[in-house]
Amino acid sequence: MASAWLWSSTTFLMIFISIFFPIPLPISLPPPITVTAAWSWPQIAISMACLLVPLTIITLIHFLPLLILHHDHRHNNNNNKNLPKGSFGWPLLGETLGFLNPHPSTSLGTFLQDHCSRYGKVFRSHLFLSPTVVSCDQELNYFILQNEGKLFECSYPKPIHGILGNVSMLVAVGDTHRRLRNVALSLVNVTKSNPEFLHDVEMTATMILKSWSGKEQVLFCEEARKYSFNVIVKQVLGLTPKDPETTRILEDFLTFMKGLISLPLYVAGTPYARAVQARSRIASSVKAIIEERKRRRRMEGEGYFGKGKVDFLEILLGVETLSEDEKVSFVLDSLLGGYETTSLLLAMVVHFLGQSPLALSHLKLEHENIRSWKKEEECLSWEDYKKMEFTHHVINEAMRCGNIVKFVHRKALKDVKFRDYLIPSGWKVLPVFTAVHLDPSLHPNALKFDPWRWESEDQTSKKFTPFGGGLRCCPGSELAKVEIAFFLHHLVLQNFRWRTEDSDGPLAFPYVEFEKGLLLNLDHS
Ligand code: HEM
Repeated sequence: MASAWLWSSTTFLMIFISIFFPIPLPISLPPPITVTAAWSWPQIAISMACLLVPLTIITLIHFLPLLILHHDHRHNNNNNKNLPKGSFGWPLLGETLGFLNPHPSTSLGTFLQDHCSRYGKVFRSHLFLSPTVVSCDQELNYFILQNEGKLFECSYPKPIHGILGNVSMLVAVGDTHRRLRNVALSLVNVTKSNPEFLHDVEMTATMILKSWSGKEQVLFCEEARKYSFNVIVKQVLGLTPKDPETTRILEDFLTFMKGLISLPLYVAGTPYARAVQARSRIASSVKAIIEERKRRRRMEGEGYFGKGKVDFLEILLGVETLSEDEKVSFVLDSLLGGYETTSLLLAMVVHFLGQSPLALSHLKLEHENIRSWKKEEECLSWEDYKKMEFTHHVINEAMRCGNIVKFVHRKALKDVKFRDYLIPSGWKVLPVFTAVHLDPSLHPNALKFDPWRWESEDQTSKKFTPFGGGLRCCPGSELAKVEIAFFLHHLVLQNFRWRTEDSDGPLAFPYVEFEKGLLLNLDHS
């Protein structure tokens, strides 16, 4: 999902700077001024003024509105007693640095812990340049998600729009969002149980696992990324790893992802500018594939339809409610949504299984049992997937404990009253999923990885929202889960044993990653 990869995996400071400087800086700066002994004082004063005036103007452009804003909010707060308790922190910075401070994703982190114990589960703060209400409360989180478009609206930082484009489903609102989303939901419905899709997923999993033969170690995060990219690029564009376009699109796509988490300066050579260019190259590649498909349709006439191609693009070609640009953007959203989050979830599951031999052996039994009913080499089916009950418990528990998406970005569209609180119109609102997932009053022994708890818990309840909720609930959730389940099926049935390193846990930056890439030690003996 979306919000996870919208944040930096390397340094939260970069994100912070990027939020403060969301406008391009001048491409060429004036030549440096050198002071020599021959200069008179008036000359020096003029030179200093030349330097200081633009600097002052730049500073004012950036910071004055923020200072005024900050002052206003302090003032308003004093007048309004119904705001949640909390603190705005430093002028300009607010509490953003504390909020973004890295911590294990299996914990709440000191910032949220401190604030919840001081102010309660709902508190006010100043984050990402905006007065904010942070919610660690399951009822308020649910209320926010269910009122998308009515009381609250998705609101990601502006530089993200610059790079994704305004017709991206991830940032679009209102009617555009609704149209794109309807298409996404029907595509996923058609795809998830399609035998051809399931076969592709399974083939990709076995191909990755075969490539481990003879190796003593693999970096699992890399393997998981390879897996999820190959699956999604096949499903969306019908490309296999052997197609030359696949490598090109992967390279452009990685550049595009780096730009999403970089300083948003549109200056030649910066990651941001490279990402914008990479996006336009991917768009051209996608358009070229669309043109080729259309050409083949024309040449082969009616006979072409239904000739086995079931990828997103083929179905998209027939959708009349989307413009060409929206179709291209849709393809990008699917790649972006389906790549990093899915591979991270797979890594998370493997991480927890590595620490829980009992769960691993239980999982193995389940898959041996499923295999025992099938002929040798017979492909897995949707019915097999449905039978993988314990596998689903393991996936749910890995999402609850590992928290791939810590929070999502919303803003209040009008003054909203919730319980005794007032959430003022225009304020940012951050429902924090991690806080609810790790709340011991909702999940007994909340910090323990215990897949068996899902035998009696409801995975659709308010206290479990790894895929968000309401009108923006992740449309790709079922595809991601099938991918994970099929990979696990083949992983646990391999002849080799594997072991993770204890020291490598998932860290929330707040985007989650394994610092050392989750090294797996393989034992083929
Ligand atoms: C483990 C895997 C995944 C996780 C944890 C995840 C999580 C999420 C979350 C939390 C949201 C809601 C964002 C918000 O409310 O602002 C979301 C939205 C979205 N996800 Fe996923 N996702 C996953 C896999 C996928 C896959 C496989 C796809 C596509 C094939 C996908 C495509 C999308 C799209 C397009 C949206 C935007 C939906 C909208 O705004 O209506 N995701 N995801």
